[in-house]
Amino acid sequence: MNIGIFYASAGGATASIAESLAEEFVIDEENMIFMEDDYEDLEQFEPFDVLFIGSSTWGKGDPHFSWVDAILEIENDADFEGKKVAFFGAGDCDKHSEQFCSALGKLYKTFTKAGAEPIGFVSKDDYSYEFSLAQIDDKFCGLAIDNHNEKDKTPKRVNDWIENLKLELGV
Ligand SMILES: Cc1cc2nc3c(=O)[nH]c(=O)nc-3n(C[C@H](O)[C@H](O)[C@H](O)COP(=O)(O)O)c2cc1C
Repeated sequence: MNIGIFYASAGGATASIAESLAEEFVIDEENMIFMEDDYEDLEQFEPFDVLFIGSSTWGKGDPHFSWVDAILEIENDADFEGKKVAFFGAGDCDKHSEQFCSALGKLYKTFTKAGAEPIGFVSKDDYSYEFSLAQIDDKFCGLAIDNHNEKDKTPKRVNDWIENLKLELGV
């Protein structure tokens, strides 16, 4: 199983999840695409059966700016049928409670419309926020962390998510 991590992070919170994923799933650095520096075009997604997609949330619930080109390209012309995809990212459930980690929801829409199969849903029970596009029915469509208000919860959230992903992927 070939796994690629595509992620954006301004302050390092989302990057730290990417690093945990790389360690646990033994992913080489060349298969870690930091969107701001490493992303060139859609072809970079092709070799992978599984995509770990990360972004913190900015503006009014948007993914980090470095995702903009890729999102447009995927929405215009991508077929991700047969690929599994898991979403992760950092946000702030206090200052930005009205759009907590909404970037995950926007990325979810982009990738699933292109045919990717989402994995790695998380119960929303442990979270407190007003609204999030990442909430699909009664779950988050991926791993949301908040290192501003709930940093103490991050290690367990990340570990539990990784264990669930391993089960879902059978590795
Ligand atoms: C201008 C600005 C807008 C933000 N907008 C949101 C938002 O809409 N939703 C959210 O959950 N967090 C929002 N945040 C919080 C960041 O996502 C948060 O600081 C996060 O930890 C950054 O993660 P990173 O270090 O991976 O970039 C915003 C922060 C700033 C400074």
